[in-house]
Amino acid sequence: MQSKLTPLVTFTFLVTLCIPTMSYKVEPLPDSYAGLGEGPHWDVARQSLYYVDLEAGSLLRYDYKQNKTYRTQIEGETLAGFVLPVEGNAQEFAVGCGRRVVIVNWDGISPVAKVVRTLFEVQPDFEANRLNDAKTDPRGRLFAGTMRYIGDEFTHRHGELYRWEAGGNVTLVKSDVGISNGLAWDEKAKKFYYIDTTDYEVKSYDYNFDTGVASNPKVIYNLRKTSPKDHLLPDGMTIDTEGNIYVATFNGATIYKVNPSTGKVLLEINLPTKQITSVAFGGPNLDILYVTTAAKFDQPTPAGTTYKVTGLNAKGYPGVSLKI
Ligand SMILES: *[C@@H]1O[C@H](CO)[C@@H](O)[C@H](O)[C@H]1NC(C)=O
Ligand SMILES: *[C@@H]1O[C@H](CO)[C@@H](O)[C@H](O)[C@H]1NC(C)=O
Repeated sequence: MQSKLTPLVTFTFLVTLCIPTMSYKVEPLPDSYAGLGEGPHWDVARQSLYYVDLEAGSLLRYDYKQNKTYRTQIEGETLAGFVLPVEGNAQEFAVGCGRRVVIVNWDGISPVAKVVRTLFEVQPDFEANRLNDAKTDPRGRLFAGTMRYIGDEFTHRHGELYRWEAGGNVTLVKSDVGISNGLAWDEKAKKFYYIDTTDYEVKSYDYNFDTGVASNPKVIYNLRKTSPKDHLLPDGMTIDTEGNIYVATFNGATIYKVNPSTGKVLLEINLPTKQITSVAFGGPNLDILYVTTAAKFDQPTPAGTTYKVTGLNAKGYPGVSLKI
């Protein structure tokens, strides 16, 4: 029995060894600094990565072909939680400014961009709240969540997650949220994945792509450590075409590639800075993982740099424009 089993065991061991030693490459994007980089979104039409500098009220665009980053300030705004291109209008973007989702007009080059109208507002009476991460589902519906931003979001769970779709009203998806963060969908598995950073975990929901309704939450990945001070803070998230999720950790200098069916970590992607805020696949072949970071609480250089990770041997989905 023992000798017959040996080859199999050896094979498994080799495979296990191969994965962590996989050679990926991490490189900075030029002029990509954001004090609080967030919300990376790959736009196929423009072959550009859009993201925000959240606490500066700024939008950024990394143009792949030009290898150049453009930055704009939204006139009169101090916060920009996310940036999502609007379908059918090359200069319009949905942006989370405070508790409002506004439409911003930007040509992708000018240093100043303007708000043209407000799409909707959430929690008007919660002045200590703001919109945080948001994404469109594969059908172009907007999912956006909130958090307190005066430093007590771990104890005051006043955040909520909303769904909005063209011609419809704002629907509450989830209340009792600390920091609404990473979002990802898998059409093949019929799943929606969601991160509330203050729960230190990733949840999966069954997702109805016809109605946009998420149900049956389950914890699929737990980032708690033995000692609470060591708990990892999951932030933004994306998914590859094989259904594996990529979880950025705000205090971990690491992106975890996880199989959501088993909760197993398949790969740890290490970055040269600590506060990893979010991830998105992009590039002409959708095989480059773009990574935003932050430089909060006096993090040293290169904190705040946006990176590309190549050589992952994985592909993702392009960002979906918002249908309005
Ligand atoms: C992009 O520009 C940076 C800074 O000039 C340079 O270091 C890098 O090699 C360029 N990348 C590509 C793909 O051209
Ligand atoms: C949307 O909100 C408006 C105004 O509050 C209300 O009149 C309408 O019935 C709502 N529609 C749906 C589908 O809930």
